[in-house]
Amino acid sequence: MKTIVTTAYRPTDATKRRAQETAQFLGLQAVERNKRPVYKLHEELAADVIVCKKERLELYPVGQSEPFFFHPNSAAFRSKRPLGNDPLVEVSGLEAGDAYLDCTLGMASDALIASLVVGDTGRVIGCESDPVIAHIIREGLKNYQDMPKLHDSMRRIQVASQNAVDYLKGLDDNSFDVVYMDPMFTEQIAEASNFAPLRNNADHGQLTEEWVEEAKRVARKSVVLKAHFRSTDFEAFGFNRRVRPNTKFHFGVIQMNKSQ
Ligand SMILES: C[S@@+](CC[C@H](N)C(=O)[O-])C[C@H]1O[C@@H](n2cnc3c(N)ncnc32)[C@H](O)[C@@H]1O
Repeated sequence: MKTIVTTAYRPTDATKRRAQETAQFLGLQAVERNKRPVYKLHEELAADVIVCKKERLELYPVGQSEPFFFHPNSAAFRSKRPLGNDPLVEVSGLEAGDAYLDCTLGMASDALIASLVVGDTGRVIGCESDPVIAHIIREGLKNYQDMPKLHDSMRRIQVASQNAVDYLKGLDDNSFDVVYMDPMFTEQIAEASNFAPLRNNADHGQLTEEWVEEAKRVARKSVVLKAHFRSTDFEAFGFNRRVRPNTKFHFGVIQMNKSQ
């Protein structure tokens, strides 16, 4: 599906400039809004629409009236609970100062929790293979104004607009403490509703032997998988499944325990 870039309904010099810069960065066409509602742009251009507002970028996939934009999502409430009890942190063994690679950045909620844990002596990189999602999240992490306690953690996350397997192949052995993957579920679940507008845009590729082997080569401490509770990937790829009763998704871990 083609994607175009436009401004908010009432453009300003700032949003016009932002639309030009966004179009140029992503190699997409910038289109004047001319007071057309988004559904008209969908109809006339047969394209997904990125709307550049002063405060954020929004993506309206064709047929969707609700936009996708960056916000902390589940990290908003998870960050208020003891971080050591967060299932991702518990399972991965992530600690302050660690280097964390998120292979499937999505809305960056998991990366945000990891970034809070590793702190300013740590490092967080998130791979996202869809360039439009990657850019919306990169800009959101840079500019989001609410929840000031999360700003340092947001600003620390580096976004790699790249397929995780290609990215992993370019990394040295043992160069991250934790490597995490959360591919799209093959079954739709209610908890993922914040991501719903993006269901068609996201990369639906599933775990492969190559992906897991590369992750194991790069991780010093652990490789972590999040998947639907019915997924057989945990057993198929050698993850130790941590059952979480009454939840729709489980975590699995491969402990690496390599010396630092
Ligand atoms: C289920 S979402 C991840 C949600 C994320 N854990 C969060 O906290 O918001 C999966 C995301 O990973 C991306 N993705 C899937 N396979 C990928 C791959 N091989 N490399 C990079 N990104 C990938 C998808 O486009 C999608 O945005």
